[in-house]
Amino acid sequence: MKNKQHWEQVYQQKQPDQVSWYQREASLSLQLIKQLTTPNASLIDVGSGASRLIDDLLALGYQRLTVLDISAAALEVSKQRLGAQATTVNWLVADITSVELPAQAYDLWHDRAVFHFLTEKADRAAYVERVRHSLKQGAYLLISCFAEQGPEKCSGLPVVRYNPQSLAAEFGAAFATKQQYEELHPTPFGTEQAFIYLVLQKR
Ligand SMILES: C[S@@+](CC[C@H](N)C(=O)[O-])C[C@H]1O[C@@H](n2cnc3c(N)ncnc32)[C@H](O)[C@@H]1O
Repeated sequence: MKNKQHWEQVYQQKQPDQVSWYQREASLSLQLIKQLTTPNASLIDVGSGASRLIDDLLALGYQRLTVLDISAAALEVSKQRLGAQATTVNWLVADITSVELPAQAYDLWHDRAVFHFLTEKADRAAYVERVRHSLKQGAYLLISCFAEQGPEKCSGLPVVRYNPQSLAAEFGAAFATKQQYEELHPTPFGTEQAFIYLVLQKR
């Protein structure tokens, strides 16, 4: 698994609120998920890390949640935090570029700050193929990456930065762009990171 060791170390060595991508609440993601789905929707959060998005979705009554990350340590942080509630979630330790996901399974695919690590064209193609395969027709991809003026690296790793057009182009004609947003993420270290968010719908 590419980068697995890096990510295991990050989550073994740092507290969840000591990483640049930490959000006490994933507000924009939550707002959009509430707008695009109902609590009986089937959702996957790809590269979830130790994000609290899952806690907030459970609190809203979402029950069909899949949480995927390359790092087992990351998912363990979330499982410990959630306690008994964790048993209702489908946890997957896997690399998103090689995992086998069920076909036409999800109403919404959420990715914050994961796709931008895929600097190799073949990895991006593998990711796009998995989105296409596992989203239902008419379902949504909610994806956020560093904007063109965002940092060149995240967690010490190089990233690809996007504008809304270049990010949408990665997913091709099978997806229609529905919404786009910009966000300045305040890191725990007092700096800001420019993100873009896209909502794409599978045709
Ligand atoms: C910058 S963090 C973002 C975490 C979370 N989405 C959030 O917003 O708090 C990137 C996450 O992607 C995961 N990741 C990186 N490469 C991955 C891959 N190829 N497959 C699955 N997860 C991956 C990392 O372990 C890490 O948790």
